[in-house]
Amino acid sequence: MIGQKIIHIEKLDSTNNYIANLVKSGTLTNGTVIMADEQTAGKGQRGSSWTSEPYNNLIFSCYITHSDLLISNQNALNYFVSLALISLLKEKGIHAQIKWPNDILVGTLKIGGVLIENQIHYDKIKSSIIGIGLNVNQKHFSGLKASSILNETGKETNRTVLGLELIEKLNVYLNLLRIGKFEILKKEYMELLWGSKELLDYQDKFTSFKAQILDVDSTGKLHLKLQNGEQRIYDLKEIQFKDRL
Ligand code: BTN
Repeated sequence: MIGQKIIHIEKLDSTNNYIANLVKSGTLTNGTVIMADEQTAGKGQRGSSWTSEPYNNLIFSCYITHSDLLISNQNALNYFVSLALISLLKEKGIHAQIKWPNDILVGTLKIGGVLIENQIHYDKIKSSIIGIGLNVNQKHFSGLKASSILNETGKETNRTVLGLELIEKLNVYLNLLRIGKFEILKKEYMELLWGSKELLDYQDKFTSFKAQILDVDSTGKLHLKLQNGEQRIYDLKEIQFKDRL
């Protein structure tokens, strides 16, 4: 269960790093959550940084261990976290979508991001550090294509309560993962995936092109169908959306 232990720290470098250090020292129990008000070195995907206005947003990481999760099923982690966030936002009256692999969008604006760092042993994922940044009460994003719960609903949200609600949602979807309901999770994820019903612009190492998402496989790879009918498979580092958020 996520949230067996919840630690609040006002300011730190990164909640993911904080957990990683506790993992190294062997002092962390399954389900521990760290929430912070301010990060000085927040990490994003693909080595980018994550900036978040202090005291206004959710900065959240949790540590979960797995007894039997194969690397070949690693995308189930993206499913369960994205779906928990979408469901949480839905309760606030916000209709959000997923941008592969796990960005959370409202229209074309990013409202949340997820960074999952796995500890692997042979063909299994032994544990995961799941970092979530959710824009809550921030109003201005200086040119970034981003939004927040406040901007979408006009209402301020209590971040502590929101953190507890997020934990509840994460546990609902984690339970489905635990009992091996990967197909149910995947179906719901695919339905909410931006670009699965429409053509979007992509950029790989060589060119840019329009394509539609055909599938995201269990290892997380993106299967695209180009306008000329050609099908291609990409890993996270090999492709990006042309319209980067
Ligand atoms: C992304 O969209 O690039 C992922 C952003 C993930 C940000 C969160 S905030 C809490 C946790 N700690 C970090 O350093 N990163 C994640």
